[in-house]
Order: sequence, then structure tokens, then C-alpha cells
Amino acid sequence: MATLPRLILRFILIAAITSSTLLACNSLMINSSSSPSNPLGSKPLPALSPIASKDIEPERIPDAPYVQTPPEVVLKMLEMAKVNKNDVVYDLGSGDGRIVITAAQKFGAKAIGIEIDPELIRESDRESKAAIAQTPEIRDRIKFIKQDFFKADLGDASVITLYLLPQANLRVRSEILPKLKRGTRVVSHEYELGDLPPNQIEKVKVGNREHTVYLWILDN
Ligand SMILES: C[S@@+](CC[C@H](N)C(=O)[O-])C[C@H]1O[C@@H](n2cnc3c(N)ncnc32)[C@H](O)[C@@H]1O
Repeated sequence: MATLPRLILRFILIAAITSSTLLACNSLMINSSSSPSNPLGSKPLPALSPIASKDIEPERIPDAPYVQTPPEVVLKMLEMAKVNKNDVVYDLGSGDGRIVITAAQKFGAKAIGIEIDPELIRESDRESKAAIAQTPEIRDRIKFIKQDFFKADLGDASVITLYLLPQANLRVRSEILPKLKRGTRVVSHEYELGDLPPNQIEKVKVGNREHTVYLWILDN
């Protein structure tokens, strides 16, 4: 009979621990469910997987959300830059790798994608494998690097492609453009480089949306 009060005590203890654990989980879910707005439009921001949040340096938030450039606009960007087999193309924030793969597959260039989100790097690797199965010759011409592009070495670039946000483009202009070679072509989907006058502007209609592509040829 002396064990009854001990049993009651144990029950109270377990109940107290369980309810405080549930309260903690609940507040974590509420905090993580608020997602940032998506200024680039169409596609919602992907939720970061536990692996992604572990791989990204915690202090670094991407400078633009993930939104894909439609294939018609990808082609227009690479055509405006007159990409050819002698070019080294860097896509800054390469998403699923479509610009890099198209530059190699359709224009014969060497192309490198720099992307901060490890889940998108994995997606690019999957897309690369499918593309290499179709066109094996691009195997040595495409590469993806998980990195903050502001820290990347772009010394051999002859073409830079961008689909970022106005603020990020301003940073690209002040921090990256001065390091590029004279004659490097920079193409941007949708946003300008501050007040730097472009050499060419083209519009591309996809469905009911009009996209703008800007080209600059650097005279560094
Ligand atoms: C609008 S998406 C463009 C994707 C792809 N270039 C396209 O046009 O389809 C911008 C991409 O930039 C990546 N990104 C943003 N800031 C970055 C940074 N500092 N370094 C590397 N990648 C970045 C995002 O994760 C996102 O995938």
C-alpha cells in the first residue's frame, strides 16, 4: 500500500514533463510557419529542409528568393549576350541550373552555377544528370558550386547572368562588376543595375506576362 502515493507522485511528474514538451514544440511550429513574402512573384518560397538549414551558414540569407526564369527568357538572355563555345558563363544564384545547362547544351559554352541553397544544388545535379544523358559532351562543361556568389572567384567569366532583386543587383554592380574583365557581358532578367545604362533592352512575352531582359557590355 505504501507504493500508491509513490505511483501518484510519478504520474504527476510525467504529466508535467509531457505538457511542457508539447508547449515548447507548439511555439516552435508557430514561429517557423511564418514565411517571408516573395517579391519576385509567381512561385512560393521553398521551405528549407533540415539539411538545407544545417548547410547554409546561419547568418546568410539569400539575396533573392527562388523563382525560375522561363525557358523562352533563358534563350533570350543567352542570345543577347551572344554566348558561344569560347565563353565562360556564370549564373549568380543558379536555382535549378537551367541557365547553366542551356548555355552548355544549346550554345556550347562552359557554364558554372553558383547557388547558396543546398537543396537547389541537389536539384541542379539531378537536372545535370538528365541533360548529360541527352548530350554527353556537356559533362565537362557544366559545374555547380554551393557558395555565396559575393565570395566567389569570377575571374574567368566572360558572361554573367542574373535574376535577382534591385538591391542585390546594386551590390553586384558595386562589388562584382569592377572585378570583371573588360568586354564581359552581363545580362539581367527583369531588374537593372541601378542607373547604369544598358546596351540593349528586350521584351519577351510568356503567356500573359511580359519579361524584360537587360544587357550590359562592360568597358572596365
Ligand atoms: C530568382 S532565383 C533565379 C534562379 C535562376 N538563376 C533562374 O533564373 O531560373 C535567385 C536564386 O539566387 C539564389 N541566391 C540568392 N542570393 C544568393 C547568394 N548570395 N549566393 C548564391 N545564391 C544566391 C537563390 O537561392 C535563388 O535560387
